[in-house]
Amino acid sequence: MLIIIDFSVIYVYNISYKRGEMMKDSCNLVIVAGEGVSDEEALALSEHIGVPLSDTMGEGLTLLMEKSGLSLVGYGLRYQGDFKEMLRRIMGGRLRHEMLVKIAKTKTEHPIAIDAAAGMGEDALLLAAAGYTVYLFERDAIVAALLRDTMRRAEQIPELTQIVSRMHLTEGDSIELMSSVPEQPELIYLDPMFPARRKSGLINKKLQLIQKLEQPCAQEEDLLRAAAAMHPEKIVIKRPLHSPFLADKKPGYTVKGKAIRYDVIVL
Ligand SMILES: C[S@@+](CC[C@H](N)C(=O)[O-])C[C@H]1O[C@@H](n2cnc3c(N)ncnc32)[C@H](O)[C@@H]1O
Repeated sequence: MLIIIDFSVIYVYNISYKRGEMMKDSCNLVIVAGEGVSDEEALALSEHIGVPLSDTMGEGLTLLMEKSGLSLVGYGLRYQGDFKEMLRRIMGGRLRHEMLVKIAKTKTEHPIAIDAAAGMGEDALLLAAAGYTVYLFERDAIVAALLRDTMRRAEQIPELTQIVSRMHLTEGDSIELMSSVPEQPELIYLDPMFPARRKSGLINKKLQLIQKLEQPCAQEEDLLRAAAAMHPEKIVIKRPLHSPFLADKKPGYTVKGKAIRYDVIVL
């Protein structure tokens, strides 16, 4: 399959990143049910996320429902979550080299984590693969639908079945909902949307499409306060390498990678 990446559209989008622009994208969104997808299934998703059904692909973004899963399509890009692609980071002893896994290391036998900004759940998958039970929160109904579908398909992959069974997704705002987690978390992971756009050439297909649905986190203080109120051992915050601290809160220490860093608040 040929994937055409239209960088000019993305560039224009990046320099005009305003809430109005994003709302326009979300408003243009339609759901298209492909072959083998029942009307009931399509209608259920349409009603749940408040997006109309259409027979044809939209001008902006389309949520394409197919037997093979749910995809976000638009601007010459197509994205479908696929945890199978994460196997190369998990298997063959490679998991322990993941920066997040090193930072999350704990002596607790059955540790609990909250991923308060789940996105497409890849970081949560790393934590679950490292033995954590992870409670994930995603406030964007479309992203949550894509993630739910990704997790459902991953359950069928033998190497991932057990790992995904430790991931519990709730759709909604973690600031309001994380106190409902029934267990005391060792770790809270925060990776809200990056405050500044990175050059389109540096971000992957997933981010390019998903950023069209979203706005940067405007409630940094609230998010951090809600996390601290859970009294975890650590709050781990993923940031672009050169961005300011989340909510201007200086962390206990920072671990730097090539493009991102993890700020760790030890409580
Ligand atoms: C950068 S993405 C996270 C990527 C994720 N770490 C991964 O591995 O795929 C940020 C996500 O956090 C979600 N988000 C931000 N604030 C949130 C909140 N207060 N509650 C729930 N989700 C939130 C956004 O909707 C977005 O999908």
